[in-house]
Amino acid sequence: MKAAVHTRYGSPDVLRVEEVPPPSPADDEVLILVHASTVNRTDCGMRSAKPFITRFFSGWRRPKHQILGSEVAGVVEAVGASVTEFRVGDRVFGVNMADYGTNAEHVCMKERAPLATMPPTLTFDEAAAATDGAILAMTYLRRVGLHAGQRIVVYGASGAIGSAGVQLAKHYGAHVTAVCSTPNVELVRSLGADVVIDYLRDDFTTNGETYDFVFDAVGKHSFRRCRRSLVPGGAYMVTDLGFLWQNPFLALLTSRLRRHRKVLFPLPSYTKEKVAFIKQLIEAGEFKPVIDRRYPLADIVEATKYVETQQKVGNVVITVG
Ligand SMILES: NC(=O)c1ccc[n+]([C@@H]2O[C@H](COP(=O)([O-])OP(=O)(O)OC[C@H]3O[C@@H](n4cnc5c(N)ncnc54)[C@H](OP(=O)(O)O)[C@@H]3O)[C@@H](O)[C@H]2O)c1
Repeated sequence: MKAAVHTRYGSPDVLRVEEVPPPSPADDEVLILVHASTVNRTDCGMRSAKPFITRFFSGWRRPKHQILGSEVAGVVEAVGASVTEFRVGDRVFGVNMADYGTNAEHVCMKERAPLATMPPTLTFDEAAAATDGAILAMTYLRRVGLHAGQRIVVYGASGAIGSAGVQLAKHYGAHVTAVCSTPNVELVRSLGADVVIDYLRDDFTTNGETYDFVFDAVGKHSFRRCRRSLVPGGAYMVTDLGFLWQNPFLALLTSRLRRHRKVLFPLPSYTKEKVAFIKQLIEAGEFKPVIDRRYPLADIVEATKYVETQQKVGNVVITVG
């Protein structure tokens, strides 16, 4: 089968599309014929081993996972002896964060992995882009138990995590103020945001409003800058480590201060329940993944370079086969 392989850390140019032996499913696995996958920011971190701490997960000297790609949509081609949930021919989608390997023509996933049958209304491209950003956004919104009557700012609302965050926050009934740049204002409004602020023209921290939460989905804001826009007891939730790892440090520090405004930096967990929840939202018309560009597997280097501009809108899909 064809796969995007890397055997050393480095720039996107270390990726090569090569023939490799196809995987075969263990008793508790399904073999998926991949139709679509994505390149996301986690793949970029795993490939470059940046920040350095990534090597704890990706391998100290060389990559443990030589084929990257975590999100997948495709068709079950074979099932292991003990698999009961899936059958050959099922259209499935999910995220293989434990083993990666979806930037390839075939991948094996555990039956218990975050995998579900696809909502019938979705294309493979859409299904491939549905899980990672949404699960990351869900991690934060569930952490604070976001609910109706609360006010949240989603900063970086046009990214993969931010665009899912806006839709999920609306599902939970919150009042959503989404922040993005001028070209993405209409897209973000179409995701259901109550208020859209173009950060090239206005600054939400100086408009006199206060919010229960600021969800910095791109890690480009800071607790220091938005602290006064939070109600007492409110939280700045951030997806990135920040300069000198300040965000996990501030999260630890502020967690000890009662009734103080807090920084939250929760670690995500990828579960089957979360993919099933995303499927429900899609079927209810409450969530639709945003796709920016599609690239064939052969163009994985260009796709990755584009993701690394940090300017993608939603998700970058890799079409396979
Ligand atoms: N915690 C975790 O486990 C985890 C896992 C994966 C990724 N991450 C982190 O999550 C963050 C976002 O990932 P993502 O994939 O959602 O990002 P993304 O899709 O790459 O975000 C791109 C968007 O960011 C916006 N943007 C760029 N510069 C900006 C700025 N200065 N201010 C505000 N918005 C800006 C751009 O829109 P505009 O032009 O509209 O600004 C663009 O649409 C990254 O920092 C990544 O490291 C965390």
